[in-house]
Amino acid sequence: MDLKNLELEAIKAIEEVNSIHKLNEVKSIFLGKKSKLQEVMKRMKDLSIEEKKALGIEINQYKNKIETLINEKKEKLDQEEVLKKLESEAIDVTLPGKKFSRGKLHPLTQVQQEIEEIFIGMGYRVAEGPEVELDLYNFEMLNIPKGHPAREMQDTFYIDENTLLRTHTSPVQVRTLLKAKGAPIKIICPGKTYRRDEDDSTHSHQFSQIEGLVVDKNITMSDLKGTLTFLLQKLFGEHRNIRLRPSFFPFVEPGVEVDVSCFKCDGKGCSLCKGSGWIEILGAGMVHPRVLEMSGYDPKIYQGFALGMGIERITMLKYGIDDIRDFYQNDIRFLNQF
Ligand code: DAH
Repeated sequence: MDLKNLELEAIKAIEEVNSIHKLNEVKSIFLGKKSKLQEVMKRMKDLSIEEKKALGIEINQYKNKIETLINEKKEKLDQEEVLKKLESEAIDVTLPGKKFSRGKLHPLTQVQQEIEEIFIGMGYRVAEGPEVELDLYNFEMLNIPKGHPAREMQDTFYIDENTLLRTHTSPVQVRTLLKAKGAPIKIICPGKTYRRDEDDSTHSHQFSQIEGLVVDKNITMSDLKGTLTFLLQKLFGEHRNIRLRPSFFPFVEPGVEVDVSCFKCDGKGCSLCKGSGWIEILGAGMVHPRVLEMSGYDPKIYQGFALGMGIERITMLKYGIDDIRDFYQNDIRFLNQF
């Protein structure tokens, strides 16, 4: 093998190589222990001293040249690598920033907070009570004794004979009365409630209510009516009228069903109000003297009014939602609309 030819071959190979890995291969082919150079060196032993010297010089020149070329090529490839990396990792500062997805409040929570704000503005305090409630507070002390027909409509989930999942937020009235020990009261109570209902588009075994209770001296039905008017105008628009219809709830006397003039047709009659011009919103009344008495208030000195509303119903009316089950299914396509 002619060393000059080997050199030309090596130069060509180095030129063609395009990665560090390949370059290392080329290096071992032309300089390594099993390289073609070794074959040339093997011939040394048959040469005269003069020839050995001359070949030795040639070999050294070859080695120096090829090593230099390989090192230069390595430097070039390294530089290309760095450039490529810089290019691929370049940051375009003009691109829009990353979007962080942000949650928001559930429509029921939004409406609950809206109602809370209205009452807080009128000086009410927000009270809370347990969802696992005593029969005593859920029924008995609200003037719904065992065997009372009003219990029929409020069947629920029982923990044991005396403990149940509350069917309304009204037991918080009793708890508040007992705690206040005769002092004036002005509270609302939002929370979850339960009933043994078949779930359909307007019924759910779990739903939520807001209760209101005011107890003081000289509280009259006109206080109730003024409060309801303010509340419903804030919720459904300044121009709404309200209407009270006689109704029965064992813990109030008199009891009323409260309607608001239809906010869709302005009371003219439409599909939402079923032609009547009025939409039923909530129940209310003057606290029954027996309820006051059972919790240690003298009904000759103290009077009060109470009200209770379903948050789902109000939210459905406000936003035109036609299936209560939509609230509980966590479907982001539904929730994102609010
Ligand atoms: N607790 C009643 C229900 O769930 C609603 C209600 C009606 C609450 C009249 C009241 C009230 O405080 O005065 O059906």
